Amino acid sequence: MALRDIITLPDKRLRLVSEPVQKFDKDLRKLVEDMFETMYEAPGIGLAAIQVAVPMRVITMDLAKKDDPKEPKVYINAEVISASNEKAVYEEGCLSIPEYYEEVERPVSVKVKYLDLDGKPHEIEASGLLATCLQHEIDHINGILFIDHLSKLKRDRVIKKYKKAAKHADGKPAPRVEPTSRGL
Ligand code: NI
Repeated sequence: MALRDIITLPDKRLRLVSEPVQKFDKDLRKLVEDMFETMYEAPGIGLAAIQVAVPMRVITMDLAKKDDPKEPKVYINAEVISASNEKAVYEEGCLSIPEYYEEVERPVSVKVKYLDLDGKPHEIEASGLLATCLQHEIDHINGILFIDHLSKLKRDRVIKKYKKAAKHADGKPAPRVEPTSRGL
């Protein structure tokens, strides 16, 4: 396993639409292993492959509570096939937008289809935190960030802040960001 670098705003690759996985081989398993290691280290509860600069439709997630046994989940080529009309608001953060949190409104439940690591199809009905995380990560593989669900004013303000920070970094290593417990 190896840790990979998480790319952050304003990296343009976060806007790529990721490609579907076609080969369920050892390269895919390696990517998934690395994503879990990177996600746990961050620490985060969800990660899309594009966040480690790989534009493939691969998502890792673990929603287990801090001291409970790990519950690693992999969602490949995941797609929302239906969503409830009822909405819920959750405070979201993102490992690619460190230290920024904002309330986002999304459907309270969604039906999602995906493939597992062996390429076997599955369908789940998700609600609560799982529904929010799946929608957040599926957005990532479509080049969408949670700030896109905010008002233009708020979004522009965040983008500007991260652009400015990137400019100031000037080739020097990025300032260390304190880990958060709810990174996605
Ligand atoms: Ni995210």
